[in-house]
Amino acid sequence: MLGAFTYHNPTKLYVGSDSLEGLARELPHYGKKVLLVYGGGSIKKNGIYDRVMEILKRAEKEVTEVSGVMPNPTSDKLLEGARAARESEADLILAVGGGSCCDFSKAVAVSAYCHDDPWEKFFIRFEEPKAEDRIIPVACVLTMAGTGSEMNAGAVITNPHKKLKIGHVFSDERVFPKFSILNPTFTYTLPKRQMAAGIYDMFNHICEQYFSGHDDNTSDYLSEGLMRSVIASSTVAMKNPENYEARSNLMWTATWALNTLIGEGKTQDWMVHMLGQAVGAYTNATHGMTLSAVSMAYYRFLMPYGLAKFKRFAINVWGVLPDGKTDAAIAREGLADMETWMRSLGVAMNISELGATADMLEGMTDATFILKGGYKVMTREEVREVLRASL
Ligand code: NZQ
Ligand code: ZN
Repeated sequence: MLGAFTYHNPTKLYVGSDSLEGLARELPHYGKKVLLVYGGGSIKKNGIYDRVMEILKRAEKEVTEVSGVMPNPTSDKLLEGARAARESEADLILAVGGGSCCDFSKAVAVSAYCHDDPWEKFFIRFEEPKAEDRIIPVACVLTMAGTGSEMNAGAVITNPHKKLKIGHVFSDERVFPKFSILNPTFTYTLPKRQMAAGIYDMFNHICEQYFSGHDDNTSDYLSEGLMRSVIASSTVAMKNPENYEARSNLMWTATWALNTLIGEGKTQDWMVHMLGQAVGAYTNATHGMTLSAVSMAYYRFLMPYGLAKFKRFAINVWGVLPDGKTDAAIAREGLADMETWMRSLGVAMNISELGATADMLEGMTDATFILKGGYKVMTREEVREVLRASL
């Protein structure tokens, strides 16, 4: 492992079917005022809202609500949340939902007392809060596995006016959730399409950190184990969504896929996310689906530049037998197995099915940030070609 790094993750996790009790245990550490953040109402239907409210009431908290946080939360909604946090003088922001609620809460946490336009400051100029800036603590009750937002300092915000979807991974550790509740049974009510999107999202987070570097790196061995766990558990969970073992494995894997551990000591790729975010900015499609829709075109483009890693991926993750085959044939077989698995999940395999059209190609190309950590730094032409091949 050739890279040098500092590793610290400050998020405390409560995991398991009784883990909501962790919320009761943590609440006394914070002031009276809680900003409760949730989405379009699934938590009211499945009873999680009532259970959380009961615990907040028992802890004698004053609760202000920001509801209607949409998938792919917007810069306008961020302003609304920041105002609510400031005016209610929130001591804690409690996100109850998936990655969107969790990301949104972190963005609100840094924006509530920011005198600048938060979109410009944090998502265009990528500034970090200063040491003296106030950041409201965030906690999360997770209801969907996929993003890893429950244990990282990332927040992705969409500006529909500018047609940009941008993620800021904050380096200020105050942005990490203070604690997160991971109860696998809370994910049982997730529609199958969302479950599949989350599964592909977590898998791709691992790919983004795996497809880079030429050194022998512990992180890559961890990644291979996590990928195999996703493949095994996804097959069980898609057939039987209430299989606790599979749902708990998926939840735990999603967290470790993007809590900074497996990317340590490596440069990282993240081009599927950059392409997917551009598609998302134009279509507002489900995050995981935007990734799956561009993945095969991207990885087939990338394979010759990182052939040794793609060969290793085929053998160690997909069990491809190498005997008598060329490296390229082994690598291709691995990608073919990955495609078969993706189709079995029912994730989007092209961007047309998400509403992207040929006349959006130039705009989506311009909206794609080109990163430099992977096996090939793409040219603008190559970005457009991969998007075109994804149509
Ligand atoms: O709005 P509600 O009613 O909560 O419904 C949600 C939403 O419609 C529903 N849902 C969630 N839990 C449910 C449920 N429905 C029934 N039962 C449950 N238990 O699922 C839908 C999608 O939820 P959302 O939170 O949008 O999904 P996800 O967790 O995939 O989050 C997506 C957002 O996270 C960002 C994405 O870009 C996107 O904006 N990401 C954040 C990352 C990070 N912080 O590191 C990294 C990721 O790559 C990603 O970019
Ligand atoms: Zn993702």
